[in-house]
Amino acid sequence: MIRILVLHGPNLNLLGSREQSIYGSTSLDEINMAIGQLARREGIHIEARQSNHEGELVMWIQEAKDNFDGLVINPAAYTHTSVALRDAIVAVGLPTVEVHLSNIHRREPFRRRSFIAPIALGQISGFGMTSYQLGIQALMEFLSRARTTDMAKTSNVDTGVRES
Ligand code: DQA
Repeated sequence: MIRILVLHGPNLNLLGSREQSIYGSTSLDEINMAIGQLARREGIHIEARQSNHEGELVMWIQEAKDNFDGLVINPAAYTHTSVALRDAIVAVGLPTVEVHLSNIHRREPFRRRSFIAPIALGQISGFGMTSYQLGIQALMEFLSRARTTDMAKTSNVDTGVRES
């Protein structure tokens, strides 16, 4: 079973009341419920966590290495500042999708720079809660394809067939 860790960064616990004109009225609980429904529908395991602390997010990423196949992260403000989060993702080598509720490229110039995007599979930005669902679907497809390729390699070895 595919296992995905979803991480929400700082201030996302305030969704629903925070800057509604930008982030809408959906709460983090509602986002997590929608993520849970998606997991059940797709038959995958998803765990979602939120932290306002950079070090805690770094620790969860480090621990995810042995327990998850991939990471979907909304690093929130740490997107634009955190070398530590980027280094943690590179260190564990988990396939990662960066997501944002708002379109960070349409906002203040300082939000256009992401420390995470260059080391992620991709970035999805601007679709509200749907950004998470799209991110999870993209990661699932990536992981399933990677598994099929791995299985093909294994079966080649088992049957003695070698690629030319
Ligand atoms: C955000 C965008 C960030 O620039 C901001 O700091 C956030 C939320 C988003 O989901 O749109 O906290 O990551």
